[in-house]
Amino acid sequence: MSAVLNVEDVDLGEPSDSLDEVAQRLWRKAIAYGTWDPSKIDFEQDKRDYERLAPEMRAYLESFCGAFYHAEENVARLFCPWIMSAPSTWQQAYLSTQLVEEFKHTDFFARYFKEVFGLLTPKRRLHNPAHDSLLERAQKLLECLDRPEEDRIACIVEAFTHYQGIIEGVQANAGYHIFVHVFGKHGLFPGLSQGFRNIQRDEGRHVGFGMRVLRHYAQRDASLAERIRAVYRTYLPLIRARYGQPIELDGVRYEPPEEERGLERLMEMYERRMRDIFGSHWEVTEQETYSP
Ligand SMILES: [Fe+2]
Ligand SMILES: [Fe+2]
Repeated sequence: MSAVLNVEDVDLGEPSDSLDEVAQRLWRKAIAYGTWDPSKIDFEQDKRDYERLAPEMRAYLESFCGAFYHAEENVARLFCPWIMSAPSTWQQAYLSTQLVEEFKHTDFFARYFKEVFGLLTPKRRLHNPAHDSLLERAQKLLECLDRPEEDRIACIVEAFTHYQGIIEGVQANAGYHIFVHVFGKHGLFPGLSQGFRNIQRDEGRHVGFGMRVLRHYAQRDASLAERIRAVYRTYLPLIRARYGQPIELDGVRYEPPEEERGLERLMEMYERRMRDIFGSHWEVTEQETYSP
């Protein structure tokens, strides 16, 4: 159970390491330990748990997993420009492991939907502005490949803030917290818990590297630090708006469970990421505070 509750495992490495040293260490770690196989996780108990679940919680679980399924598949298909734009072989090597892992996460949810929910795809597709704008971000990164270094770095910084900083570092991390508190801590869905644990271990490397990249550029140049803050501020209202909404499934509306506390968990992760990048003295604006 304690492993299910551990959702803080982000690998930031040693502060004195260069980005290439961090990338090389994470590359080594990913090829040695990132070897779990989504097809080997047992879903038998999950099927029984799902059968016994109340209709509103079934709708919630399916919608929750559907958001993850969509997010993993979306990034897996769009991630190549992040690899291509990285400035060194070791950074590209490490990011190539992230690409494979995002496909692995997609594979896990595809299998879960088919075997546990009896569905090939989620019944509803939640509008998610942070993900829905990722194609545009990927295209911009490609356009930047031939530009002078200063422009290229600015594009990389914005793309890392958007994906590793906001989608993985805030949105997905808040999602893991929610799963643990709504389902995992009650001992339900052991196969899904196992999958989330494995995914989180991978994501610890993804977010860890992303935070190191952003911290590196924020310390190097105040205008890049401001760019990072600007991207966070742009997306924050969009990702905040997704919580606390009723879920509509098969024509019925369901309220989210009380334990979700989605907005509160989201803002905790937001503050954590600000500290990872800017240290403890980041200046909070009114829009960036949480009030229940
Ligand atoms: Fe992922
Ligand atoms: Fe990831």
